Amino acid sequence: MADSTKSATLSIDGQTYDLPMFSPTAGPDVIDIRKLYAEAGVFTYDPGFTSTASCDSTITFIDGGKGELLHRGYPIDQLAGKSHYLEVCYLLLYGALPTAAELEEFESTITRHTMIHEQMHNFFRGFRRDAHPMAIMVGAVGAMAAFYHDSTDISDPRQREIASHRLIAKVPTIAAMAYKYSIGQPFVYPRNDLDYAANFLHMCFAVPAEEYVVDPIIARAMDRILTLHADHEQNASTSTVRLASSSGANPFACIAAGIACLWGPAHGGANQACLEMLKEIGSPDRIPEYIARAKDKDDPFRLMGFGHRVYKNFDPRATVMKQSADEVLDLLGVENNPILATAKELEQAALADPYFAEKKLFPNVDFYSGIILEAMGFPTSMFTPIFALSRTVGWVSQWKEMIADPQNKIGRPRQLYLGDTARDYVDIENR
Ligand code: SDX
Repeated sequence: MADSTKSATLSIDGQTYDLPMFSPTAGPDVIDIRKLYAEAGVFTYDPGFTSTASCDSTITFIDGGKGELLHRGYPIDQLAGKSHYLEVCYLLLYGALPTAAELEEFESTITRHTMIHEQMHNFFRGFRRDAHPMAIMVGAVGAMAAFYHDSTDISDPRQREIASHRLIAKVPTIAAMAYKYSIGQPFVYPRNDLDYAANFLHMCFAVPAEEYVVDPIIARAMDRILTLHADHEQNASTSTVRLASSSGANPFACIAAGIACLWGPAHGGANQACLEMLKEIGSPDRIPEYIARAKDKDDPFRLMGFGHRVYKNFDPRATVMKQSADEVLDLLGVENNPILATAKELEQAALADPYFAEKKLFPNVDFYSGIILEAMGFPTSMFTPIFALSRTVGWVSQWKEMIADPQNKIGRPRQLYLGDTARDYVDIENR
């Protein structure tokens, strides 16, 4: 924890309270209110945590005004351009870029944990074929606690590391199996001769009837999508993982909770919702109608893939994702993709509209990712599972940081109670 260098003075009913402040290495100062209730008998109130720091962390930093995203200090555009997903996983988990030997050992470890317990195959068969892959992932990842008992003791650093490796290695296998199950095709086992992204594509698209060769350019684009979604400070699903972990729950249960939270359309489900919105819009000439709906206070419709709690200038991930969208669609010969054309026109129309400028609404990471994933052949139902498999390393890294923090205690927010005060029970005959 940083040292307190200054304090804030709070005055309530003539009584003043000095609250220590801490200065970060980047970002706003924080006011430490941990003793506020004990000293002043009041709570703070911040639904949605728009101005509340839940923890201290050294993993990821976002400057929403500058559109900056750093992982352990390294800018996301440099990592997306020069690194690759498993190296970023190492960076997030251990805090430094690996040497060649460290990277080789880490990649070998992850590669050799990609198979899941054979008994889990039966677990999948309990689902309906039309189950949403996210429903299967929540169940299957949570069920990992029933198969990997030897890495659930969170007080043992070695078990925490094994659980971390198992989650990063096995969640792609589970995601691919959820996809195969939903289309009635046989599961494809992981292959140790393929890198992480290529292996995931192979598990999704290979069939026993013929050899499937992963296109290296598509694999590179998938690796970049995974890198861009890896971690993002204390977003809703990461905060869910931290809160679940604060009770001492096992890592598989906590990551399953994160997957459940990510599923929502306001969060990781936005990539699926965004592509479905673009398909509903259908063509650029219908864009004004949808822009008007997004601005209409009486219409709950929002432009999926636009806006962000933190980014109020641009989402640096969307910038990189847009470049990838152009490359992938050009490679696949679908550069005339009507959905991409609608997306680009919608982006330009929204950015030119005073409402979006005033509300500081810009395309976020989910705006272009769905277009790439659809061009690769994924159904929209697989977009959020791919976000989840990428974000698993972020959840695990934040979980590890929290568990190792001596300040770690169970999370238990308070409330502003507006309900009835105490009253006596009324027998039914007197109501
Ligand atoms: C992710 O937190 C993270 O880091 C998340 C994430 C990650 O990597 O973990 O970045 C991933 O979740 C990206 C966001 C994906 N979600 C969407 O694309 C769904 C559409 N976006 C909105 O639902 C919304 O922008 C949020 C949820 C993303 C942000 O919500 P906020 O910050 O709470 O914003 P808000 O709801 O308070 O909106 C502020 C104003 C409101 O108008 P007023 O009430 O002030 O008049 O902007 C309007 C909103 O109505 N607004 C939109 C809008 N988003 C906000 N209007 C039209 N379309 C939109 N998309």
